[in-house]
Amino acid sequence: MSKTIIISNRLPIKVQRKEEGLAYETSEGGLATGLGSIYKEGDNVWIGWPGLFFEDEAEEQEVTLSLKSQSMHPVFLTESEIKEFYEGFSNETLWPSFHYFSQYTVYDDVYWEAYQHVNRKFCQAVMQVAQPGDTIWVHDYQLLLLPAYLREAFPDSSIGFFQHIPFPSFEVFRMLPWREQLLKGILGADLIGFHTYDDVRHFLSSVSRIIGMNTAQGMIDNGYRQIMVDAFPMGIDYEKYAQLAASPEMKEKLIPYNEALSGQKVILSIDRLDYSKGIPARLQAFELLLQEYPEFREKVTLFMLVVPSRDQVEKYKQLKETIDELVGRINSSYRTISWNPIQYFYRSFPIEELSALYTVADIALITPMRDGMNLVCKEFVASKLDQKGVLILSEMAGAAKELSDALIINPNDLGQMVQAMREAMTMPEAEQQIRMQHMQDILKRYDIHQWVSIFMNRLEYIKLKQLSLA
Ligand code: UDP
Ligand code: G6P
Repeated sequence: MSKTIIISNRLPIKVQRKEEGLAYETSEGGLATGLGSIYKEGDNVWIGWPGLFFEDEAEEQEVTLSLKSQSMHPVFLTESEIKEFYEGFSNETLWPSFHYFSQYTVYDDVYWEAYQHVNRKFCQAVMQVAQPGDTIWVHDYQLLLLPAYLREAFPDSSIGFFQHIPFPSFEVFRMLPWREQLLKGILGADLIGFHTYDDVRHFLSSVSRIIGMNTAQGMIDNGYRQIMVDAFPMGIDYEKYAQLAASPEMKEKLIPYNEALSGQKVILSIDRLDYSKGIPARLQAFELLLQEYPEFREKVTLFMLVVPSRDQVEKYKQLKETIDELVGRINSSYRTISWNPIQYFYRSFPIEELSALYTVADIALITPMRDGMNLVCKEFVASKLDQKGVLILSEMAGAAKELSDALIINPNDLGQMVQAMREAMTMPEAEQQIRMQHMQDILKRYDIHQWVSIFMNRLEYIKLKQLSLA
């Protein structure tokens, strides 16, 4: 029976080394959480890195066996591959460039060599598990060369590629010395998906200007195959979040939060530690709110969860220091005996705890400088069973295209963020409910299951079209 093979750099489960031995935990990040609940159907398998470096083969075997029982197949990375491929080319070259932080981009041929090598390594892993007729679905910027490598190995296979982060405009993308190879890598796929039409437009313009291929109406003809490019805004497992919020255990979970935050308006902020998320500007806007509107002091709490991420990368280390300093400054300037303006957590929370936070929060303040989609804001909306609550959302997040009933802000405009917080805190309940209802309707209709099935149907369609043209 044919199966679908999902490939991403990070598996939805990460292995951690604890005193008691190896522990298996859920990975953070939109890709892993989004697809994590659906990949287990049939004989499907997910290939990726388990997130840790292992020194001996016995450990690797133990991990391989344990993951196999959960339909996963590991690709082990060496210490230097983690440094040069993962931290290096993926997160010091591609991530900053694609998020319009080109001033942070490191251009290093050693990183590029490692990137090619590890993409080849992933290709070999696929060759171990793939059978004729399988559908192959490659995910994200760490594996841009893989579709072309797979095409060499499996000339007739159905290969899909989806990028979870933005595709930058041609003027930014062209700065990468390896731009042509990267595009040709992606073009190994039959169907190429992005979250928004802007990403599609940027990608097509780079293809036509850098490799000179014709890109009319989202179709690319490479001389051998028709390749389709389209926008597929990723949804969430809506029912999962709605059910968690409605579960009987939730009432109990909420008790300590309600006690600690009683009488407060709660503003919620949740992100991985990342400069693309706009955390320092968000803190500055919150400080400005307390400064300019003293009536909100002791009445509002910013509940800020920052999930550790890529902490070996220099820019991420610096960001952590900046955030720590800002939080310290704001809390020490404004706190009183009975009130702390910012409740700051630097760790990850299990999904039940996240659900409690989504339920308890009056406002979600999601203000990335740039974000492919942003699933946290969708999870907040899905958790609002009584439809009370306000979403403040950056126009730079892919999700803003769908969630136009949020208070949409420009994250570089601190004054606008302050006014949005004021508006959110005083918004009549009836208006909150109308906005929330609209957003819930959209998210319910276009959930993660729909997303997968639309992508898969489109992949099947383009394969049939290729055959009819052959
Ligand atoms: N998340 C998590 N644990 C946490 C905080 C967040 O698993 O402690 C999840 C969150 O529920 C969401 C994902 O991490 O599904 C973040 O995805 P998003 O698209 O918002 O941002 P990304 O991290 O992919 O840039
Ligand atoms: C984003 C990316 C994913 C990545 C995740 C977590 O969601 O699109 O590809 O897995 O961040 O980052 P990490 O570097 O920990 O895998």
